[in-house]
This record gives sequence, C-alpha cells and structure tokens, in this order.
Amino acid sequence: MSAPPGKATARAPANIALIKYWGAEEVDEGLPLNRSLSMTLTRCVSLCTVEAHPEEGEDEVFRVDDRGGLDPADPPFAGPVLRHLERLRRWADRRVRFRAATRTGFPMGAGLASSASGFAALTLAAVRALDRDPDPEELSILARRSGSGSAARSCFGGYVEWPAGDGDDELDPGAPARPVLPRDHWDLRDVIALVDRSPKKVSSREGHRRAETSPHFATRLARLPERLHAVRRALEERDFGALAPLVEAESVELHMIAMTSRPPIFYWSGGSVEVMEAVRTLREEGVRACFTMDAGPNVHVLCPAEDEGAVAERLSALDAVGGLIRDRVGPGPSLVPDHLF
Ligand code: DP6
Repeated sequence: MSAPPGKATARAPANIALIKYWGAEEVDEGLPLNRSLSMTLTRCVSLCTVEAHPEEGEDEVFRVDDRGGLDPADPPFAGPVLRHLERLRRWADRRVRFRAATRTGFPMGAGLASSASGFAALTLAAVRALDRDPDPEELSILARRSGSGSAARSCFGGYVEWPAGDGDDELDPGAPARPVLPRDHWDLRDVIALVDRSPKKVSSREGHRRAETSPHFATRLARLPERLHAVRRALEERDFGALAPLVEAESVELHMIAMTSRPPIFYWSGGSVEVMEAVRTLREEGVRACFTMDAGPNVHVLCPAEDEGAVAERLSALDAVGGLIRDRVGPGPSLVPDHLF
C-alpha cells in the first residue's frame, strides 16, 4: 500500500511596497537590483492547498471558484505555478505528484500583489505537504524564487525589507526578506481604491526587464538607499508627515521609470489620477493620507487609523472608484486547518 499524501493549506497576505522592487538582475529567480520595503496587509490574502502524492505523474493546478468548486487553471495561471512546484520538488529531493488549488479573495493581476500572496501561500503549503519545515528566511528565499520577488516579503508580517542587509552594505540580491518593525508598532491603514479590476496589460516581470532601458534608472538606483533610510526612520518614529512625501515620490518615480522604458509602459488610468488628486485635496484639508501604486491603475491610500474614515468616505464618492478594500498592516502567513479540497 502506498503512503498517504501529505496535504497542507496555507494563507498568505499581499503586501504594499513603500519602496518598490523594480528592475532585476535575474527576473525568473526574483533577484532584485534594489532593496525594497513593504507593509504586509491583512484582508488581501490568498489561500492555497497542496497535496503531495508519493508517486510520479502529472501535477494538477486548480482555481477555486466563488462557490468553492475546483476549476482546472488556464495555462497563463498554471504555468508559473507548475514551474514553482517543480522547483520545490527538486529542493526537497522528493518524487511526488502535486495537486494544488488556490483561492484569491481580491482582484488578481491588477497591481494588488495577488502573485506575491499566491506564491507565498503556495510555497508554505507545498513545503508542509512535503513534510519540510524551513525557517522563515529559507521560506522567503524559496517564495522569491517563484519569480514573484515580492513574495519574499509576504513571508513576514508587519513592515518588511527585502533583501535583508544593514542598509549600507552591498546589496546581496539572494538574501531573504526580514521584518524590520512589527505590525503593532504602527497601525497604518491602506484604503485601496479600485478604479479598474481588469488584469494589467504588461506584467511586472516584463516591467523589470525593461527598467534598465529607462535613461533615469541609474539615477534612481543611486539615490534609492537614501530614500529607503528615510522611509525606515519615518516608520520607526511613526512620523506620517515625513512618510507621506517619500512614499508618493517613490510611487511616481516607479511609474516614471515604467513610462520612460522602451517600449514605455503606462499603468495609470484617468481614475488613478483622479484618486491621486483627491488625496492631495484631503491633505490640504488636514487629513493625513498619501497614495502609492504598484504595477497597475488601482491606488493604495495609506493613512493612520484615525484618518481612515475620512479617506474612505471621500474616495468612495469619486465617480472613478468602483469599490474600496479597507485593509491594514497585518501578520505573516500561516497554516490553516480547512483545506480547499
Ligand atoms: C511594482 O515581480 O514581485 O509591485 O509579478 O506582481 O509578483 P508580481 O511582481 P514582482 O514585482 C513587484 C513590483 C511592484 C513593486 C513591489 O511590490 O515591490
């Protein structure tokens, strides 16, 4: 009789980058050209169940639909997942056949880091299904090797830097992420204004590849460590007045690099600009808020807990905003007892 399959289900959060990963030494391995810093989220999470059968055969990848049913994943979704499962099988040196299913509770591929949470959840569920228990640093390295580099940061809660280092030393792109401040240090909120739920037209992966073609990229890299230090200090001191202009400058710069890459990439939409304007107006009225965007048109509006109500009220009244996700800084990934299949 063959051994029973190993099975595990993990839940992992998305994260929003305050200092962005953009440009890679090795895109497929998720080896970045710069250090980034993010805030782990609470509500934007992915769930993943992995079953490892002790026999050879074809791996299978499913998506869980709204009613809990399993749909075979289409090739664009399944491809990177199958490659990552193969990588984990080799890492564990095991002959197994995987069945994996994921459920993402927020719009995918729209600049909301669904792949970061998805690959962090897949990595944790797969290693546990393989009966391995790597420490968080190793898990972070394994997750990053999915090619979704930001998944390295989704392996920790709170405020997270990646790759770890003391900030002044030379960048080691292969180093894991590391938490720099716990989530209870500062209860920042992220009101996500959804202006477009469709998947982005150009992947981050392609964006990383094109980054170096921007004439401004080298300047960005040279100046980034200073901004990262300043962001870390503002977080340490819970100084929103210092944090806001740094976060917005970083977000605009990421998009400036994308827009000046060859060929150029435009992630913003008219609605994104409307939200950014509204944030500026809110600030003039004394509400503490600042915007940041990843590789997509949706806008993350960060604010202290006391200002969340005013921010949500204003953003939800905008014509361009089709919905809000009210999120906050949160914990890292965990195993859950209820499997998806
Ligand atoms: C703009 O290669 O990690 O979000 O394909 O979404 O996983 P995914 O992206 P990844 O690049 C992230 C790019 C970014 C900035 C950031 O999160 O640091």
